[in-house]
Amino acid sequence: MPSAKIAGLGFYVPENVVTNHDLAKLMTTSDEWIRERSGIIERRYFTPGKDTVANMGTRAARIAMERAGIGPDDLDLIIFATLNPDYMFPGSGVLVQRELGISGKGVPALDIRNQCSGFIYGLSIADQFIKTGMYRHVLLIGSEIHSSGLDFSDKGRDVTVLFGDGAGAAVLAATEEPGRGVLITRLHADGEQAEQLAVLAPSGHQPRHLTHEMIDDGTIYPVMNGRHVFKFAVEKFPEVIMEALNATGFTPADIDMFIPHQANLRIAEAVRKVLNLPEEKVHNNIMKYGNTTAGSIPIALTEAWEMGKVKEGDLVCLAAFGSGFTWGSALIRW
Ligand code: UT7
Repeated sequence: MPSAKIAGLGFYVPENVVTNHDLAKLMTTSDEWIRERSGIIERRYFTPGKDTVANMGTRAARIAMERAGIGPDDLDLIIFATLNPDYMFPGSGVLVQRELGISGKGVPALDIRNQCSGFIYGLSIADQFIKTGMYRHVLLIGSEIHSSGLDFSDKGRDVTVLFGDGAGAAVLAATEEPGRGVLITRLHADGEQAEQLAVLAPSGHQPRHLTHEMIDDGTIYPVMNGRHVFKFAVEKFPEVIMEALNATGFTPADIDMFIPHQANLRIAEAVRKVLNLPEEKVHNNIMKYGNTTAGSIPIALTEAWEMGKVKEGDLVCLAAFGSGFTWGSALIRW
């Protein structure tokens, strides 16, 4: 049975750097508060007219494909993870397909809505398609533009300071080498928590999906029960990582590199301590990019790989937690 290996990685972040000091000019917040509570120093915001959710993902994908030594014509499937697609419908996956110039080939494009866990969910889907032998090359993209949908008044400051824009991509390729590639993925969700971190409008179940009232009262902006999310995250990250380790017979000490979803540096630190991992075995970059949701793991993984922190033969652990709630983990033998 073939397994799926990550054959190439790439990321793209918009050039516009927004610091905590910049945000403090727009709302009642401070560099000190944001750094202390989240570790974030700056994030990127897209440039309207230049960056789109799809074209940011496409830029990341082109780098990933070049590194994998394949071209768009080799792709069997595109999986696109985002919480803020370019259009209400269709999803951004078909736009990537068009931008890659392969629309005429009928390559399928699958959009998934799993927020911060989008990349892990997508990785698991890609892995299943490759394991069954149906596909040999899957392009997986996580891309987010948050800044167009954030509340820059004091009401939204708890959420707004955390999020940034960016995209990452991976090419998953079939390999026949035993023990190589994605060893396991574990996925979970808890729908009871759906409204704890959510954007409630536009809404398909309201008489009109978008109204002036929704705009005026701020229902179009994300809401988050921050403390509740924090508590769940700190519990679920280690739990789902241990689930994957136990199922494969590994222990935390076997992990060579851990790439957590970049939600909050305090969450990543708490998880690192529970797993008893030394600092050098964890890669964080939330300081530079904030939380880029589905983009966060592929951006951090690409960066870690570029820095030589992920090497041939390493056991790499990925884990994420976010809106839904959804959470998951993956173990990869590089
Ligand atoms: O991928 C999952 C995505 N989400 C997360 O991972 C978020 C998880 N949660 C968190 O990271 C934290 O809960 C936050 C960073 C969002 C907030 O930190 P906290 O320590 O839980 O603060 P808090 O919400 O309890 O708020 C403390 C104070 C409040 O003021 P009072 O009531 O004590 O007077 C807030 O109104 O901080 C205030 N506050 C702010 N002050 C300055 C909230 N947001 C801000 C802000 N700047 N941006």
